[in-house]
Amino acid sequence: MQHDIEKVLISQKAIEQRVEELARRITADLLALPHEVSPQVTLIAILTGSIVFVADLVRQLPLRLQIQVISISSYPGTATSSHGAAVQEALTRIPPSLAGRHVLLVDDILDSGNTLRAAQALITQREPASLRTCVLLRKDRPEAQSVAVDYVAFDIPDVFVVGYGLDHDDYYRNLPEIVTLRSHVLQQEPTPSRNGT
Ligand code: IMP
Ligand code: MG
Repeated sequence: MQHDIEKVLISQKAIEQRVEELARRITADLLALPHEVSPQVTLIAILTGSIVFVADLVRQLPLRLQIQVISISSYPGTATSSHGAAVQEALTRIPPSLAGRHVLLVDDILDSGNTLRAAQALITQREPASLRTCVLLRKDRPEAQSVAVDYVAFDIPDVFVVGYGLDHDDYYRNLPEIVTLRSHVLQQEPTPSRNGT
C-alpha cells in the first residue's frame, strides 16, 4: 500500500489538530442554540467515506447526540471523477421527521457537490430545526465552492485523494493521512460490482 502513494497531502498530525479545532467550533455553535436541557442534535454521516472522520469528530463533541448514517454513491469503482449522485437507501435511513432536531450533516469530500446537495435536499424535506453541513475536504473547483457548507476542515487542490476514509476501489480508507496515488494505481481496472461512496 505504501508504494502506491505519490505524495502525502495532509499529515496525520495536521488532521488531528484540525479535527480538534473544528469540533470545538461545532460544539460552541450547537450550544449557542436556544435549548432547555441540551440541544436536540442528530449527526447524519454519509457512508462510507466519512466513517474515519466521523469517528474522530464525534468523540470530541461533548454533546448528547444521535448518529444516523446514509449512503449516497457517485464514484463507481476506480473512477476518479463524479458520475452524478444516486441516492441509495437514504429514504429509509433518515428518520421520517427531523422536527425539532438540529442536524449536522457530515461528508468526506466536496467535489462535484452532487452528493451533498442530494443529502441536504432529503434532510430539508424532513423539516429539521436547523441544518449544518461539515466536510473534511473541499476541492478547488467551482462546483464544490458553490455548495453551502458551514464547516470545512481542509481546502485542497482539485486532485484525486485517498486515505482517512477516502477510497480508490474501496482500498486505502485505512491510511491515517490524506495522500495522492501514483498514476499506475489510478489506471487499474475496477473490482466488479462496486459503486463508490
Ligand atoms: P461529489 O462529487 O461532491 O458528489 O462527491 C461524491 C463522493 O465522491 C464523495 O463523497 C467521495 O466519497 C467521492 N470522492 C470525491 N472526490 C474524491 C477523491 O478525491 N477521492 C476519493 N473519493 C472521492
Ligand atoms: Mg462519499
